[in-house]
Amino acid sequence: MGELHIMNHPLIQHKLTIVRDENCGTREFREVVNEIANLMAFEFSRDMPLEEVDVKTPEGIAHAKQLAGKKLAVVPILRAGIGMVDGILDLIPTAKVGHIGMYRDEETLEPHEYFAKLPSDIDQRQVFVVDPMLATGGSAIMAIDALKKRGAKNIKFVCLVSAPEGVKALQEAHPDVDIYAAALDEKLENGYIVPGLGDAGDRLFGTK
Ligand code: PRP
Repeated sequence: MGELHIMNHPLIQHKLTIVRDENCGTREFREVVNEIANLMAFEFSRDMPLEEVDVKTPEGIAHAKQLAGKKLAVVPILRAGIGMVDGILDLIPTAKVGHIGMYRDEETLEPHEYFAKLPSDIDQRQVFVVDPMLATGGSAIMAIDALKKRGAKNIKFVCLVSAPEGVKALQEAHPDVDIYAAALDEKLENGYIVPGLGDAGDRLFGTK
């Protein structure tokens, strides 16, 4: 079963409150979502493996450490996932970025894939799928299906707010995928997370 990690860092919680506020405008929403993604990257990178390396300093040899192991890819689910990418890349600038486009049919809430462009060596990368919202889980499940079909094996899912229904569905469909969220909210209502933060895509891009 994929583990659910709720990121309780005070700065993440404080900033999440700012973007939940219905009076937070597009510009501030965009800025603060990226700041949260940056702080989340700091937290979710805690268990990245290190290897020992000797480095020559001006004064001698330091037995030091550097990141080891797999290369990284960040894969935002379009559109709203885009809002988290820059914040993550600030911290992990060498990560490659793939894109997966998903929209939910507003009536049925069924997700549909409309775009996918991934790094060619995605099968060799640690992949972070990002999307501000995990509601029914349909979009995340389908995006991760698409990634696995293209060979990705090592996948984590990162979101701002999650609903219990989406967490359960994602854990059942992809038990190998850990979930990192800033909050686990109360419930889903008509496909929206309650209390949530509204429609992240519309709030990021000012399309409502
Ligand atoms: C929203 C959100 C997620 C999805 C979550 O996207 O950004 O991708 O819904 O819902 P689910 O867990 O029930 O699938 P939306 O379809 O509104 O598209 P957008 O990002 O282009 O606004």
